[in-house]
Amino acid sequence: MNKRVVVYKTLSQPLLERLQQQVDVTQVDLNASDGLARLRDALPDAHGLLGASLPLGSALLDLAPNLQVVSSISVGVDNYDVADLTRRRVMLTHTPDVLTETTADTGFALILASARRVVELANWVRDGHWHKSLGPAHFGTDVQGKTLGIIGMGRIGDALARRAAAGFGMRVLYHSNQRKPDAEARHGARFRSLEALLGEADFVCLTVPLSASTEGLIGARELALMKPEAILVNIARGRVVDEAALIEALRSGRLRGAGLDVFEQEPLPADSPLLQLANVVATPHIGSATHETREAMARCAVENLLEGLAGERPRHWVNPF
Ligand code: DGY
Repeated sequence: MNKRVVVYKTLSQPLLERLQQQVDVTQVDLNASDGLARLRDALPDAHGLLGASLPLGSALLDLAPNLQVVSSISVGVDNYDVADLTRRRVMLTHTPDVLTETTADTGFALILASARRVVELANWVRDGHWHKSLGPAHFGTDVQGKTLGIIGMGRIGDALARRAAAGFGMRVLYHSNQRKPDAEARHGARFRSLEALLGEADFVCLTVPLSASTEGLIGARELALMKPEAILVNIARGRVVDEAALIEALRSGRLRGAGLDVFEQEPLPADSPLLQLANVVATPHIGSATHETREAMARCAVENLLEGLAGERPRHWVNPF
């Protein structure tokens, strides 16, 4: 008997066919009004789950006594209770590496857009305000030659450091729970305590995974340590930053600006005060969202799933047991 898999994210036709050759697939559209109900109906028979962006708590897992593999189409696994999955002997897999460069591009896009006020000034032109040449009121600030502070020097942090050092002649500082001799040697990155990094960097970019130790890492105290002309960029997870404290710092001019791809609540509510602030560039969690990278992530997730269901050790197994 074939294993049964519930897919709750749209897959390309070739990937869907590849999966269907080996397992019985039930597709569920979580955007449909009956999506969650259909997922609940399919869980009792499921051996595998494939998808993303769904917090998979114990209430759903209790419905799936046959579950063997949860294959997430993401690198972040903060939507899952990893300890609970391990207790249940359910493999959790994720999709690192394939999204590293694209996500680092997003970080750099936010650094440049915030520093050079790209979104604000493009909207200003579109709204018909460009009648004479620009004066200082519309100037931005340089990126090249400045200091980038990276909090979390994993794969994405490293890819950002490479762009900053090689492409923009930036000085790179980093804070991480481990020293990274490779990044130090290749990009001239210098390790700093969190406090020292916040005090020295012109751009602070967050790339840490969300965990109990990083939730609320950047709050009012940390924002107060940043230079007033500094810009905060978050491509990690919204809850790494105390959003209310950030809004206050941006409103009061305590910080120059912020480039944010992730938020405490996603989708970002249309009435969020962040959207009232001209010095905020807000993007809808586009970190890895290119055609090529999302396809590569889905392919990696399909491979992880099939390996796990075949009784092999998946390449990107988060909770090995
Ligand atoms: C991830 O993979 O965790 C990203 O946040 C999704 O873009």
